Amino acid sequence: MNAGGAPAVPNGGQRLQKVLARAGVGSRRACDELIGAGRVRVNGQVAALGQRVNPALDRIELDGALVPTAPGLAHYLLNKPRGVVTTASDPQGRPTVLGLVPPQPRVFPVGRLDADTEGLIILTNDGPLAHQLTHPRFGIDKEYVAEVRGEPRPAVLRTLRKGVQLNDGPTAPARVSLVGPSVLRITIHEGRNRQVRRMCEAVGHPVQRLVRTRIGPVADRRLALGHWRPLTMREVQALAQAAAADTAASADRRRIAATSGPPTP
Ligand code: URA
Repeated sequence: MNAGGAPAVPNGGQRLQKVLARAGVGSRRACDELIGAGRVRVNGQVAALGQRVNPALDRIELDGALVPTAPGLAHYLLNKPRGVVTTASDPQGRPTVLGLVPPQPRVFPVGRLDADTEGLIILTNDGPLAHQLTHPRFGIDKEYVAEVRGEPRPAVLRTLRKGVQLNDGPTAPARVSLVGPSVLRITIHEGRNRQVRRMCEAVGHPVQRLVRTRIGPVADRRLALGHWRPLTMREVQALAQAAAADTAASADRRRIAATSGPPTP
């Protein structure tokens, strides 16, 4: 028997349904149904129920999309509570996000949330995906809900949307809407330090509470504060696709900016 309890076969293969389930495709039963429906291919061939595979070597596809089955890859979505830091250790001894997810395999947070910000953060040991999600060039969008002091007027929303001047330069256009008298929903694709707090401060409405509610295509209203769950394979694929799409969009924005010159008065 191997560590997972499945009997080993001469080529060291593992049950395909188990490999798919571990990759986040769904329950083992759901995976069996997908295999039975002919939606899974192994090295280009439609897979059979009960088939065994080598997850490190075989190319496994669901509906034509590659399933990331490399052993040891972990992708977690955590709903970070206030007061927890996103660094690996904290000189002030505050709890860290690493204390809220399984210790093995070792993962790291993708990007940062301030200690006093709550909400969704991804932790993974998938270096290429983490790079795509954090590199400014990729600019995946992130949605925040900010409870602010005062009641922002329409002119304030317009200013936030267009971009505000911060001490490290103007912010890029953002999506901003009022979802309560003092509650803003703000979507940005930059990842500057304390950006949402600084944007709100700059327009005279300091943030009282800040929650990240979406990272690209990934949101989860039911994930309780302090809890985590594995990202599904579809979410991992959607994140990678969103980062690729945002790269193309930001390249377009740069091209347009470079060719159009300064705006005419
Ligand atoms: N913007 C902030 O101000 N803080 C965060 O934690 C994330 C975005």
